[in-house]
Amino acid sequence: MRNLLVTGGAGFIGANFVQYWLQRGVEGQLTVLDALTYAGNRSSLASVESDSRFSFVHGDICTPGLAESLLRERRIDTIVHFAAESHVDRSISGPDAFVTTNVIGTHELLKAARTVWLQEQAVEGPVRFHHVSTDEVYGTLAPDDPAFHEATPYAPNSPYAASKAASDHLVRAYHHTFGLPITTTNCSNNYGPFHFPEKLIPLVIVNILDGKPLPVYGDGRQVRDWLFVRDHARAIEVVLERGRVGEVYNVGGRNEWANIDIVKLVCALVDERLAADASLAARFSASPASRGAAAESLITYVTDRKGHDRRYAIDATKIESELGFIPEETFETGIRKTVDWFLSNEAWWRAVMDGSYLRWLETNYAPSV
Ligand code: NAD
Ligand code: DAU
Repeated sequence: MRNLLVTGGAGFIGANFVQYWLQRGVEGQLTVLDALTYAGNRSSLASVESDSRFSFVHGDICTPGLAESLLRERRIDTIVHFAAESHVDRSISGPDAFVTTNVIGTHELLKAARTVWLQEQAVEGPVRFHHVSTDEVYGTLAPDDPAFHEATPYAPNSPYAASKAASDHLVRAYHHTFGLPITTTNCSNNYGPFHFPEKLIPLVIVNILDGKPLPVYGDGRQVRDWLFVRDHARAIEVVLERGRVGEVYNVGGRNEWANIDIVKLVCALVDERLAADASLAARFSASPASRGAAAESLITYVTDRKGHDRRYAIDATKIESELGFIPEETFETGIRKTVDWFLSNEAWWRAVMDGSYLRWLETNYAPSV
């Protein structure tokens, strides 16, 4: 039994983790703490709202004293920390929020855990601070470089990656200096249901359905290692259950794809679905497939992201060999499930794409010259 505090549980990965955790039938309470920024959606938690183990607190991790009182009052023994500003492009146009939430917010949580768990000893039994981080802290790889492993030196290149690196260091320091029982996972790119449609894969799906351009940065040959989001949730579960305190585990799919190849694959899958189902073609009447054209015709090369990392790849040997974690979903099945989820959940993605998000898109995509 564990009493969890899940920060950022209304975001993409957090919501998938919460659903996964509660479906497993674990005893104990699960509290989500989320500020509901543009990327946080309470609707992503609709399927667990009536679960008696679940509760939601609308709040900011940066608020002094908030996490501390939640830990104390709810007897929380496990923090799973997802809350973050997570979009690299936004960190380029406005880095401040990244430093605030990712660095200062993480530090507020660490201070709260130290106070309540270590100094007051207000919670009985084992406790754990699990920090959810990213492969981007390791920087970029050349095509033939070996994949990132846990001892790869940090070399973050974007303000987002730098803020996550800073948070990783604080988590490590609270373990080393104060003895806070921590674990950290550094994961590769996730994809799947509830993915906010400003990230590559969901953006491509919804833009095809609306007949809008598919923006490919630079030459489109940048490489990412994609993992189905539920496998990330499983990896965190495995680390909570069997991971060694103080350790870092890299998590990835051994599934490297160039962006342009992903975009073309998603185009082919959406075309296939709409060709096979006349009602879908009628519902998404702006999509190329509904008039017999190919979605690939929407591909538009745009100005590259500043400081764009060329390649990420994860060496997942440690979590595989030490904890026996292997992803369950293949990319072939996972990407089909993802396309189908977006086809079936139009109301969700229309609702999250509000006015402020659309204005941000308009000001951030310029055609390449
Ligand atoms: P997301 O942007 O979809 O969700 C972030 C959530 O955090 C949102 O619900 C938002 O409302 C909440 N939040 C933001 N600022 C907050 C604050 N100050 N206080 C409380 N809540 C706040 O992000 P995601 O893609 O689900 O990523 C979750 C975590 O996983 C992040 O820490 C990210 O760095 C990490 N990660 C993401 C990926 C990926 O591919 N998306 C891969 C590896 C690691
Ligand atoms: O690697 C893990 C990281 O993956 C996480 O830490 C981040 O939180 C998460 O957002 C993701 O970062 P990326 O920058 O890799 O994801 P994004 O979906 O923004 O972009 C994926 C690739 O696609 C990247 O090379 C940029 C490119 N891209 C992205 C968008 C949004 C495009 O070519 N066109 C686009 O419109």
